[in-house]
Amino acid sequence: MTKRDSKTLPEWLYLETEDLPEPSALPKPLWLENTKIEQAMDSLNTHPEISAVLKRLWQKDPYTYNHCHRVADLAQWIGQFLSLSNQERVEIYLVGLMHDVGKIFTPDHVLKKPGPLTREEFEIMKKHPEDSANIISNFKDLGYLEPAIRAHHERFDGKGYPDGLLRDKIHIFSRVIFVADTFDAMTTSRVYRKKLDLEVTYQELTDCSGSQFDPEVSKAFVTAHQKLREWIHNKKKAA
Ligand SMILES: [Fe+2]
Repeated sequence: MTKRDSKTLPEWLYLETEDLPEPSALPKPLWLENTKIEQAMDSLNTHPEISAVLKRLWQKDPYTYNHCHRVADLAQWIGQFLSLSNQERVEIYLVGLMHDVGKIFTPDHVLKKPGPLTREEFEIMKKHPEDSANIISNFKDLGYLEPAIRAHHERFDGKGYPDGLLRDKIHIFSRVIFVADTFDAMTTSRVYRKKLDLEVTYQELTDCSGSQFDPEVSKAFVTAHQKLREWIHNKKKAA
């Protein structure tokens, strides 16, 4: 992986499935001034066990691989608006990178199905948070993040999976990842549906706050993402 370039514009926000880059050519969207955080995030991308698992994910499904990177970047960005510490932002970045690696074990006919899943197929898909958590639990010194990865599909109202956890029983990282995950799924095009307009997506996140999402997190996400767009706009104007 190449070094993060703090001047790189985050075009990754608008990547289409059909023109996904090779893993080594992925743009580095972080423009943080604090190089210690950047270095820590880089070190995760080059960590031998993490990069080996991510490589397997890339081979299995490039869309999911790129989705994990986008979610990781979004999650640490939102983290700034939720007053996460630098250490927590690095940790949530890792949780984002790893949240869907369990899909390595999801059969292709389910993972890559170009349409809605049947009930049976959805039950198979629902196994991936546990598989992702099991993968990280085997990593030396990183197993403490297992609960955050396992809970990334838990809903604020307790109707999520795999454990039906409620409100603050859900790890804060998982609550953030769930919003970033949903946002990314809605704003990228797939074979079976076109990406949604950003304003529609913001509204959806707002409408589902309190049921699907932690209201504080979905509010922070919309604020953070609007500021991100503003930052990009100003940067492009100045260029
Ligand atoms: Fe997931």
